[in-house]
Amino acid sequence: MAKTIVITGASSGIGAALALRYARDGVRLGLLGRSEARLERMAAECRRLGAEVELGTVDVRARAEMFAWLEKFDAAHPIDLLFANAGVMTGRPADGPMETPDVSHALVETNVLGTLNTIHPLLPRMMARRAGQIAIVSSIAGFIPLPDAPSYGASKAATLSYGLALRALLDEHGIKVSVICPGYVRTPMMEQESGPKPGAIEPAAAAELIVRGLARNKPVITFPFLFSLMTRIGGMLPDRLRRRTQQPYRFTVAERETSK
Ligand SMILES: NC(=O)c1ccc[n+]([C@@H]2O[C@H](COP(=O)([O-])OP(=O)(O)OC[C@H]3O[C@@H](n4cnc5c(N)ncnc54)[C@H](OP(=O)(O)O)[C@@H]3O)[C@@H](O)[C@H]2O)c1
Repeated sequence: MAKTIVITGASSGIGAALALRYARDGVRLGLLGRSEARLERMAAECRRLGAEVELGTVDVRARAEMFAWLEKFDAAHPIDLLFANAGVMTGRPADGPMETPDVSHALVETNVLGTLNTIHPLLPRMMARRAGQIAIVSSIAGFIPLPDAPSYGASKAATLSYGLALRALLDEHGIKVSVICPGYVRTPMMEQESGPKPGAIEPAAAAELIVRGLARNKPVITFPFLFSLMTRIGGMLPDRLRRRTQQPYRFTVAERETSK
């Protein structure tokens, strides 16, 4: 069992559920997010469950700040398990044809560059130790092009590909890498989306599946089984057929209040 765990996007949803799940094992947690108030609430809850907690109010897009925080934390407490989980969702709004260039850029910065900013500072340190585990939270959206959320789907395909490449590269350096591709999980992010949400599960259930998958060092941890399989098969269909099978699952995405 990992003793020191860092989670980005720990102030809400899946990241918060992971923090609570690991807190029960009495670990040391480094929790990152932008909302100090929500992080403080998480920290109090995790401490109550038995964890030691340090907080980092850092935007994953801020490369220098991410390097500074992670290097300092890792020097004091070598990280066993790192979650690159922070992410945002945008897509076609109900009152317009598609996402705006600004939100599209911000999304790629957060979901893709934010993932690199989380992992890069720790790679040389984990490689020197020949130890460590990295979990990248992608999505089943990485398996199939999404006409209603083109940037989101592309960002998740990018982190899925990056994570699996990293897994192959870092194996000989003693570092484990897994990519997590959840289906719908009932979090504030999921609530932004209209449309059907087959197989949606609670964050605590998702955290349990993730913990189990990481213990087995699975390359891709994906759930629920059936929706994930449908999405993977859908992604391999010829263009026209894929688009037709996606019709019943079309959705719009509501904008989200920025957190602070
Ligand atoms: N929910 C789903 O159905 C679902 C399905 C598949 C994949 N996922 C993925 O799971 C991950 C977590 O999503 P969630 O559903 O738990 O969403 P959520 O409840 O909205 O949580 C997102 C987390 O990311 C953090 N975050 C967002 N932008 C950030 C930034 N620039 N810098 C630092 N932290 C940032 C947020 O913290 P602050 O607001 O405090 O910054 C929050 O803690 C995401 O990568 C998402 O794409 C979710």
